[in-house]
Amino acid sequence: MRTALSDEFGLDLSLFAFSYMPDVVVEVCKAGGMGVLGAVRFTPDELSEAIEYVEARIGGRPYGVDIVMPAKTEAVAGMPMDEMHDMLEKMIPQEHRDFVERLLKEHGVPELPADAQQQRDLLSWNDTEARQQVERSLERPDVKLIVNALGPPPKDVVDQSHEAGVKVAALVGKKEHALKQVANGVDIIVAQGTEAGGHSGEIATMVLVPEVVEAVGDAPVLAAGGIGSGRQVAAAFALGAQGVWTGSIWLNTVECAQPDLMYKKFQQATSSDAVRSRAYTGKPARQLRTAWTDAWDNPDNPQPLGMPLQYMLNAEAQDRIRRSGNEALLGTPIGQLVGSMSETKTVREVVDALREEYTRTVESLPRLSTSAPVS
Ligand SMILES: Cc1cc2nc3c(=O)[nH]c(=O)nc-3n(C[C@H](O)[C@H](O)[C@H](O)COP(=O)(O)O)c2cc1C
Repeated sequence: MRTALSDEFGLDLSLFAFSYMPDVVVEVCKAGGMGVLGAVRFTPDELSEAIEYVEARIGGRPYGVDIVMPAKTEAVAGMPMDEMHDMLEKMIPQEHRDFVERLLKEHGVPELPADAQQQRDLLSWNDTEARQQVERSLERPDVKLIVNALGPPPKDVVDQSHEAGVKVAALVGKKEHALKQVANGVDIIVAQGTEAGGHSGEIATMVLVPEVVEAVGDAPVLAAGGIGSGRQVAAAFALGAQGVWTGSIWLNTVECAQPDLMYKKFQQATSSDAVRSRAYTGKPARQLRTAWTDAWDNPDNPQPLGMPLQYMLNAEAQDRIRRSGNEALLGTPIGQLVGSMSETKTVREVVDALREEYTRTVESLPRLSTSAPVS
């Protein structure tokens, strides 16, 4: 599972793993891949702490940080966070607030306890905090990759990363987006198919990856969306990818520290239970189908707001749902892979299984080319 790209980073495996859990990032790096820490849930200070935590445990191995700088958002570039929060709060209609409250009541979800710590409702998917996160990341010696989602990273962020000797990758769901990213100076394209967990486009990985590989010439491409087994890794290489970019498989690991009910839901779900909905963030994102997604996807109900308003509207509700362990409403972004999830394993076990199956698959392929034609 090595390629020219993984050799460039000094990795044993061309396996890139997105996770917002520092422990998953640590274990992937220790197993020979590249862990990439999702920064959107962290304030810049929390990100610095998480980065220090990771670096203290990976012994100088390379890792990455994933920042979210959306091309289309209600947030205003450069506005101070307090001011922006107040402005955005006022944009949320009362009708939507009432709808959320009704939904929680219908499902018997209690209020938060009085002493509960408030979760952030405005995440770092805005220019103001995302730029601070880039700076915090580039200060660190072992960050070797900055990744951006939801549009091309601003040119000056790409230049700033290059000056620090750090490569830039970006997620795309269409060939046209890949061409824009390359023109903007992005080094590595993550071609993410619709199967993927989280924000996704409409084109399947099987179609998108070779299209992007053909289009971008020499730029290395990572295949993403629906990759969770060695057979799928082998398929990604066959499609021309230089590595795989993974997200959902790490959700079902011990290190991801999910509530037991979440693991149970993964194991019971089928691939059809991962729906693409605007319910969570306002942009289409693949997630576990729940009574929450059903309610927001019903055209008779208020329609989801834009980013970042929809998440601001539902952050406290999600916290209440998690705390009360409400089975009907509890969900998470996750891809179609959820249908193949079985028992929860450690990250190391997942990587070992992936590598073993990959080797078996590749060894079996020459037999295909020498076998007699089917008549
Ligand atoms: C829970 C979850 C959160 C995600 N959040 C982000 C994010 O903040 N930034 C990002 O670039 N991608 C995010 N993604 C997408 C992943 O980076 C990755 O492209 C995707 O998971 C790959 O498809 P897979 O889920 O089939 O492995 C997220 C995915 C999941 C499952």
